[in-house]
Amino acid sequence: MKPGGFQQWLKDTMGLDASTIGPTVVERAVASRMTACGCKQLAEYWQALRASPLEQQELIEAVVVPETWFFRDTQAFSALSETYGLHWAVTHPGDRLRLLSLPCSTGEEPYTMAMALQDAGFPLERLSIDAVDISERALAKARRGLYGSNSFRGRELQFRERHFTTVAGGWQLPETVRSRVNFIQGNVLDVAFLPGEAVYDAIFCRNLLIYFDADTQIRTVGILKRLLRPQGLLFVGPAEAGLILSQGFASAQLPMAFAFRPPRADSGVAVSAAMLATTASALAGAAAKATTVKAIAKPRPLARPAPSASPVPTVAESAEALLDAAQRLADNGDFDRAAGSCQAYLQAQGPSARALYLLGLIEGAKGRNELAEDYFRKALYLQPQHEETLMHLALLLETRGDAAGGRVLRLRAQRSRRTAG
Ligand SMILES: C[S@@+](CC[C@H](N)C(=O)[O-])C[C@H]1O[C@@H](n2cnc3c(N)ncnc32)[C@H](O)[C@@H]1O
Repeated sequence: MKPGGFQQWLKDTMGLDASTIGPTVVERAVASRMTACGCKQLAEYWQALRASPLEQQELIEAVVVPETWFFRDTQAFSALSETYGLHWAVTHPGDRLRLLSLPCSTGEEPYTMAMALQDAGFPLERLSIDAVDISERALAKARRGLYGSNSFRGRELQFRERHFTTVAGGWQLPETVRSRVNFIQGNVLDVAFLPGEAVYDAIFCRNLLIYFDADTQIRTVGILKRLLRPQGLLFVGPAEAGLILSQGFASAQLPMAFAFRPPRADSGVAVSAAMLATTASALAGAAAKATTVKAIAKPRPLARPAPSASPVPTVAESAEALLDAAQRLADNGDFDRAAGSCQAYLQAQGPSARALYLLGLIEGAKGRNELAEDYFRKALYLQPQHEETLMHLALLLETRGDAAGGRVLRLRAQRSRRTAG
């Protein structure tokens, strides 16, 4: 058994991509668990791990990153309370606001959600927060509601005086706030994870996806889509915003909150690779011959049967179909093929703001923000009022702390919308 085997096991079990925390962290965790179990050889520990769910949990506990604090990225909580404060309670009489914090770690995030809403006048008895984490140890601390100074960071700490009582060993949250949060031990990758659909008005899934590889990220976003109400809000960490945009979510336009609205139910239809290949090669042929191409179906709408005598699409229509297909591949996380078809389009058709914008989204989703920015800027050079590009570039600038640059682009996007409307 090689150390890489443990990395693979952690990836398969909890989604952890060891490269995000450094492989030596996993090696140290395995070494420490071997000592605790009295195992001398890796192979011996491997057997012990496979045989014991308790030991599996111990290894997971040894690698998780429980870093969190109250009001972390505070604008997210302002956005939550502005969206669902007293106004929501009044306009939704009798409804209960259902929120999810996944992962909740030691509880600071879900408790902050409750405190922010209480401060905004929301009646706590109508609030219900599910808070999930894979770590039993983190959840045990969360349930106690007793925190030390490491959970309070930054200078804005007035909330501590308002909500906590000073006790020996730290600050204690009152039962009124604690009782709103239902802590649940769970692994987001379990097949039976949180059954049900469209259950939550808002989901906080912050600083989890950064530890996953691309496939696991997309799988997890699929779960979030299932759990979020159609009009709901998904909050992610600053480094996770690009990924969420690439999955069809739209910015909720709440400054620095990294909040997103889910894609419409009909917008995520997969396009088969065969169809894309057909379209791409037909387009290349068509561009070479400067003639029309035969019988290339546009991917949208897929649900309706094709009319028996459909007109033959023009080269331009076929080219757009290629980009539609690229968009859907990107929506489904097939970034390489999506990028390939954008490049094929650019080769055949020349510069295009939409193709460059899509390439920007794809690079952003892969975490290559500099390349993404480059593509977005090229798209704006071609089409200065391209609204989606303006919004995505704004978000990218804000993510790296350039709030002023982001604001300028958002204003441009607003003007472009007004002009279009
Ligand atoms: C950095 S904390 C994020 C806490 C909080 N959301 C925040 O942003 O402050 C990451 C948490 O993810 C949890 N975690 C890691 N993999 C998980 C999985 N597969 N399912 C559920 N929770 C997981 C860890 O136990 C850890 O508590």
